Amino acid sequence: MLTMILKRAAMAIPSLIGVVIVTFLLTRALPGDPAAGRLLFFGTNGGKARCAECHSVVVEGAGAGGFIAPDLTNYAEAREPAEILRAITNPSENANARWRTAVVTMRDGEKFSGLIRNQDNFSVQLQSPDGSFHLLDRASVAEVTFDSKSMMPANYGERLTPVELNDLISFLMRSAAAEGAAKSRDSKRRDDDGGN
Ligand code: HEC
Repeated sequence: MLTMILKRAAMAIPSLIGVVIVTFLLTRALPGDPAAGRLLFFGTNGGKARCAECHSVVVEGAGAGGFIAPDLTNYAEAREPAEILRAITNPSENANARWRTAVVTMRDGEKFSGLIRNQDNFSVQLQSPDGSFHLLDRASVAEVTFDSKSMMPANYGERLTPVELNDLISFLMRSAAAEGAAKSRDSKRRDDDGGN
């Protein structure tokens, strides 16, 4: 009996931790208005930011967005507003080669630019900003160069007001919290299904 109780208690710990983290995320003070940030993100607010042309954030009631840039659904989970602001206003500091625009020049002079999604000894698989895939024959590739700058516009610090930036940050923080809540519900459901 005692071991049963102990076992149950031990099993409850992970979901408890999940609930605590999610509660923490949901109650984190937001620097702005997430609903206004959402409009900015998806570009429905006069198209000032249009983050969703490149990024996705999976939230209820909205199209996911673009897939050429990193998915930002969970991005804000363990980040402070100041760090998120920096990522939005200084994208070129984010030196992640995986997201640098590549320019592939073929031996016949044709050029393709986009992200290299995969490559091996025989092929280079490149995705253009419009989403289309190109399977290039490696033997026909003359040169591959990488853009040193991020493809993300570098001037959001000027294009958006401090209030708008805070709204966007709040939207990202809220979506990360909602995603955390959904995950913890899922794992709870799994625990319940496991039924013992
Ligand atoms: C033209 C495409 C494009 C647009 C528009 C764009 N981004 Fe980005 N963003 C990127 C790319 C590509 C990266 C990856 C960093 C890099 O370039 O190495 C990135 C990185 C980021 C990061 C850091 C992600 C990480 O995992 O480190 C954040 C946060 C971000 N963008 C937020 C935004 C927000 C908010 C907007 C709208 C105001 C926006 N972006 C608009 C392309 C874009």
